[in-house]
Amino acid sequence: MTGKAFLVLFVAVLGFAGCSSDDSATGPAPTTERSFVNDVLPIFAQNCNGCHGQGGPAVGILDLTKNTYLRLVNAPSNTAAGWKLVVAGKPDSSLLYLKVALATPPVGVRMPKDLTPLPGTDIIKIKDWIEQGAKNN
Ligand code: HEC
Repeated sequence: MTGKAFLVLFVAVLGFAGCSSDDSATGPAPTTERSFVNDVLPIFAQNCNGCHGQGGPAVGILDLTKNTYLRLVNAPSNTAAGWKLVVAGKPDSSLLYLKVALATPPVGVRMPKDLTPLPGTDIIKIKDWIEQGAKNN
């Protein structure tokens, strides 16, 4: 191998190694840290509390306006035996998430009931927040 060919090969290998060690930069973008107060509660205020707040038809099933964090995280569902509304770290085990994300949730109808489903950006905020440990932040 000539010196020049070796150099070319060397640079090619370096470039390749550079790429593979750089996977994080080309893979999925790191998710933003989500906040219960700033990301999740405003979604409820805008889309849910008309029914799930004082005077609303579904306040008895779930009140999303009082002690909301405690009412959700690790708390049992009123409508689906064995389900919790939010299981920290596990959106797919969290009825709250499945009820806004799935056209056919495990129990009842998709939320917000009878209205347009939440935009994907809101659904992802709720999912990220649960995945990131459902912190009271
Ligand atoms: C038009 C009224 C209405 C709106 C708006 C609404 N809900 Fe509901 N919600 C209901 C009713 C009625 C039920 C019970 C029947 C069912 O689950 O399908 C319910 C049930 C639920 C449950 C199950 C509670 C449990 O303990 O099992 C969750 C979670 C929920 N809603 C979340 C939401 C969220 C989040 C929003 C906003 C994105 C929302 N709802 C908007 C009427 C509403």
